[in-house]
Amino acid sequence: MKEVRNLRNIVRDLCDVAGILKKYRQERNGKQMIKAAVLGFGTVGSGVVELFDINRSSVARRVPEGVEVKYILDLREFPGSPYADRVVHDYDIILNDPEIRVICETMGGKEPAFTFSKKALEKGISVCTSNKELVAAHGPELLKIAQEHNCSYLFEASVGGGIPIIRPMNTSLAPEYITQIIGILNGTTNYMMTRMEQEDISFEDVLRQAQDNGYAEKNPEADIEGHDACRKIAILSSLMCGKTVRYEDIPCEGISHISMTDVAYARSMGRAIKLLGISERDEEAGTFYVRTAPYMVPASHPLHGVEDVFNAVFVHGNLVDNVMFYGRGAGKFPTASAVVSDMLDCALNIGQTIPVRWTDEVMQLSDAAQKVERWFVRVDAAEAEKVKALFDGCETVTAPKAPADETAFTTAPMTEAAFAEKIAQLAGVKSTIRLLEA
Ligand SMILES: NC(=O)c1ccc[n+]([C@@H]2O[C@H](COP(=O)([O-])OP(=O)(O)OC[C@H]3O[C@@H](n4cnc5c(N)ncnc54)[C@H](OP(=O)(O)O)[C@@H]3O)[C@@H](O)[C@H]2O)c1
Repeated sequence: MKEVRNLRNIVRDLCDVAGILKKYRQERNGKQMIKAAVLGFGTVGSGVVELFDINRSSVARRVPEGVEVKYILDLREFPGSPYADRVVHDYDIILNDPEIRVICETMGGKEPAFTFSKKALEKGISVCTSNKELVAAHGPELLKIAQEHNCSYLFEASVGGGIPIIRPMNTSLAPEYITQIIGILNGTTNYMMTRMEQEDISFEDVLRQAQDNGYAEKNPEADIEGHDACRKIAILSSLMCGKTVRYEDIPCEGISHISMTDVAYARSMGRAIKLLGISERDEEAGTFYVRTAPYMVPASHPLHGVEDVFNAVFVHGNLVDNVMFYGRGAGKFPTASAVVSDMLDCALNIGQTIPVRWTDEVMQLSDAAQKVERWFVRVDAAEAEKVKALFDGCETVTAPKAPADETAFTTAPMTEAAFAEKIAQLAGVKSTIRLLEA
């Protein structure tokens, strides 16, 4: 009996030792520095690499094990860079290194960014990106692959650069019934509209100024025609409904037709013209109206004061009421900061998926032409009588130095379809711009 008791004690002691060893091993493994790779050493990617050095202590506070960028993938060499020895040109070196647990994709474009991200996720390596083009086109597919392989796909920097908006949508605002999102989502166009308003310079001149300052690309089409803002409101709308809002389904209008005369009228009405991405619930249809277009924003709306390259996202939830996220929508370090916040979250969640509610089921949007809005219109002065006959409840608008041969007015609320039918009956229409309600 005594021998059995002794044997039981020995077994128990051995189990204790095994437990202690297991715990020690887990702790030791858990404390191993997490290795990451950056794909694309351009504006954002270089910011990411530098941020790990500049804010080393902040990173260590969040992830005590530490995170180290082991590889940088780029097409070029970077002689003289303190990070030159980490540069590789073969993606397989990164993929086949079992130490790599997190990848930051800051190459931009759809390919090879999509293939590279997919391959990493299939290996259980988390991917964080600032690439809105890729997220808008393949977000749900990559999220699904991440879930199947116990890793994460995060994209905080893809909307609003340094502004935290994706994480709040996924977490802080998760219990809300969000009814409206309105965003100034493109810094280039907001800079251009602000300069036109404050300095009385033409669209062409301000575009040149924006290109000289590095705010606008040599080919500015994606910005000024609204495509960039459209992709971002598609991402936010998808997170709002948990399904896929395709950017191809969103009516998209840019700012290239906005003139100094429009800006002067807006100013005299106490409004400012801004390129907005808008997503609003259509309660009757159980879906959304989504649109990207320039709007005249009243001074009483919080988005009115968002100037220059700054971005802002205004969200209305049924319980939280109105909240607004404001900050730098682009730039090396603001954007890198958002990417690194995702990388740190991934580092803290190795072996599991950080949930993002966004499936590949396509959300059928409401017909935007049925949305009731008000318009500002400029038209030949000769049409003044016809305007009164056609537009019940319209109000004449004036502006200092407005051309004498035209008249301007705002309409009563009506659907775009009704507006289009009336406007088609007028000759010499110079401009039509939507009015945002306060
Ligand atoms: N810049 C911003 O402020 C900002 C803000 C928010 C989001 N974003 C998004 O972030 C992404 C990156 O933007 P960015 O401004 O950093 O672009 P960028 O300065 O052009 O950097 C991209 C880098 O990736 C490299 N690259 C391209 N294709 C590659 C490939 N196949 N293999 C390896 N390297 C490759 C490029 O090399 P080469 O130069 O030799 O082609 C370049 O060094 C884009 O999706 C952009 O829309 C940017």
